[in-house]
Amino acid sequence: MNISPRTKLVGLIGHPVEHSLSPKLHNTLYQKYGLDYVYLAFDIAPDDIAKAVEAFKTLSFRGFNVTIPHKEKIVRFLDWLDTEAAIIGAVNTVKVEDGKLMGYNTDGMGFVSSLKRRGITLKDKIVLVLGAGGSAKAICVYLLKEGVKELYIHNRTRERALALIKQLKRFFPGVRLDYLAEENIGDVRPHLVVNTTPLGMWPHTHLMPIENYDFLPGMTVVDIVYNPVETAFLKKAKQAGCMAINGLDMLVGQALKAIEIWTGVKMDFDEAIRILIEGDKFLL
Ligand SMILES: NC(=O)c1ccc[n+]([C@@H]2O[C@H](COP(=O)([O-])OP(=O)(O)OC[C@H]3O[C@@H](n4cnc5c(N)ncnc54)[C@H](OP(=O)(O)O)[C@@H]3O)[C@@H](O)[C@H]2O)c1
Repeated sequence: MNISPRTKLVGLIGHPVEHSLSPKLHNTLYQKYGLDYVYLAFDIAPDDIAKAVEAFKTLSFRGFNVTIPHKEKIVRFLDWLDTEAAIIGAVNTVKVEDGKLMGYNTDGMGFVSSLKRRGITLKDKIVLVLGAGGSAKAICVYLLKEGVKELYIHNRTRERALALIKQLKRFFPGVRLDYLAEENIGDVRPHLVVNTTPLGMWPHTHLMPIENYDFLPGMTVVDIVYNPVETAFLKKAKQAGCMAINGLDMLVGQALKAIEIWTGVKMDFDEAIRILIEGDKFLL
């Protein structure tokens, strides 16, 4: 890395940030693409967001990512919010331009773009989302924006899913949006199933978001967990003849969208994945 006075700064705020893969992911790509940018991570306590934002402006940062627990709280410090981020109510990417802060949510963008690049269309499709947390919300908004016909949500805490459905219905009134209890999951035959829960994540790799799911050949199944790269849920989906997509697609997809917002450079997804994965090994 060749840092000079001209090097442009981007970064991440979260609490904690020590396990974040983003600095390595971004800096590896900047280096390979010859972009004169450096990405730094900052552990910012919840009460210090205002100070961090002012510091980014003072130090002429081009932008920054936002992670847990600041994704919702950052919104009040922004001068502009894109439409989807406003519906989601959470921001993971901020662009700083002429002292003004603009907020985006690239989690949903990255998720959808990773499906599109595989030729998967979402218009008029039936989708089952497992989980109703922050990433589910971002994913659902972008799925609905793409024109899915029916969206079903299953979640451990029913009330949380119902609250999400109620909110989504306000913005996408024409779509069938329903909660599915575990015993009713088999009633729906979705084209796409998305796991947004941490079930199956290391070290509890034997867990699955739903046990004994009746995968059908031709379904697309996405697990946004990326550690391990192939979860037990994805493995079963693959064995049943489904197209199985792992969480690295979304992880890399959201980073590439952030890079595009900050630098204007549109990196090729496959090339980025090639840089970050060697054989079957994720390098970060
Ligand atoms: N690939 C990527 O780029 C990417 C991006 C973001 C997140 N992720 C991964 O996605 C996962 C979720 O992140 P998030 O930010 O959405 O988290 P979150 O807001 O905390 O939501 C977690 C969701 O998982 C459910 N859940 C958690 N533990 C559960 C359990 N033991 N049994 C059943 N359901 C459970 C929660 O259900 P309740 O409502 O009942 O609590 C909730 O719906 C994490 O593993 C994260 O690493 C990946």
